Amino acid sequence: MKNFEFHNPTRIVFGLDTVAKLSTLVPHDARVLILYGGASAEKTGTLAEVRAALGQRTVQEFGGIEPNPSYETLMRAVAQVRGDKLDFLLAVGGGSVIDGTKFVAAAALYDGEPWEIAERGGANVRQALPFGTVLTLPATGSEMNSGGVVTKKATHDKLSFRSALLYPQFSVLDPSKTFTLPARQVANGLVDAFVHTTEQYLTYPAQAMVQDRFAEGLLQTLVEIAPQAVAAPDDYATRANLMWTATLALNGLIGAGVPQDWATHMIGHELTALYDIDHARTLALVLPALLDVQREQKRGKLLQYGERVWNITQGSDDERIDMAIASTRAFFEGLGIPTRLSAYQLGQEAVEAVLKQLAAHGMTSLGEHRDIDLARSRRILEAAL
Ligand code: NZQ
Ligand code: ZN
Repeated sequence: MKNFEFHNPTRIVFGLDTVAKLSTLVPHDARVLILYGGASAEKTGTLAEVRAALGQRTVQEFGGIEPNPSYETLMRAVAQVRGDKLDFLLAVGGGSVIDGTKFVAAAALYDGEPWEIAERGGANVRQALPFGTVLTLPATGSEMNSGGVVTKKATHDKLSFRSALLYPQFSVLDPSKTFTLPARQVANGLVDAFVHTTEQYLTYPAQAMVQDRFAEGLLQTLVEIAPQAVAAPDDYATRANLMWTATLALNGLIGAGVPQDWATHMIGHELTALYDIDHARTLALVLPALLDVQREQKRGKLLQYGERVWNITQGSDDERIDMAIASTRAFFEGLGIPTRLSAYQLGQEAVEAVLKQLAAHGMTSLGEHRDIDLARSRRILEAAL
């Protein structure tokens, strides 16, 4: 096991009817900005509950944060925060709204051009406004981590940032707030949480026994609940398990002391920036191809994954690895999420375009061994055609 420090300061308030607890979670003298996405938070009634819980506090709102939040939109929120001297942010939504709120929290107090925060991956964040979240879409884990991803629409740059100052102070997780999600977003959430887990697990053996068992437990849970999560929108127990699993998949716990990959995410971000494919859907395109191309480096863990997650115990090592990758692909496809670029009418030209973006963003040594250079990324993308 590698050396590590683990500290996660986010208070989780989990369960039915927990939005009302905002009345005590948000400081009484706070000047609050509620940030939300498109129409869903208003339509579902969640915003009304949030407003009621905030009572007599000074409250302003900023709506219109789009999926894959844009720098251009977020800078309007920064202007509102600065102009009206707001001092507490409250995100109501999914990963995009929460990530956007993290960016605003840092950008509002940043001395300089805030896009530098994305360019430096958050290393230059010295202070940030406090913020909390009300999660409406289980997927990204943003509700309990310190990272975010923003896109500069003008240049198709989708960059991630991270700072210890960007953990939410609290996150309200009421599984019933997910009942209104379209099936497509539920499927996306299952796949995103699945791939967050594999990015921290499917690397090489590190004698991290409990991290492995936790990761396998999260993966098995996602596979087990997937059909019901998609088919039965108002099954509270299933949605509760989905919500907590997705949070645990990226709150630092399973990643402590183990090697991490993240190449699937970095390549996926370029596909979203170029072709506007949903985040999780880009992961389903890249992961099976990446596992195949990296099968030698990942051999030990692929065999363990096949056996413990998919109960694959027969056949030669290579046959078992093939079956493990095929099971992964079938899981994604079974959720209606394609694993081939051709499903999006993308071909060789997309491979070239993504490689150009990876080069421009310095993504030339990815993966747990830093051995996914542009030539290897090309093989991965071509395997996904
Ligand atoms: O905009 P509205 O109208 O609110 O609709 C949203 C949006 O269209 C809708 N939605 C959310 N909650 C709903 C709902 N519709 C009905 N009922 C509800 N309860 O869902 C759509 C997608 O929302 P979005 O927030 O974009 O999805 P997700 O949570 O998957 O977030 C994706 C973003 O997170 C980033 C991704 O790159 C992407 O930009 N990620 C953030 C990470 C992090 N901070 O740690 C890690 C991830 O790997 C990921 O990169
Ligand atoms: Zn993700």
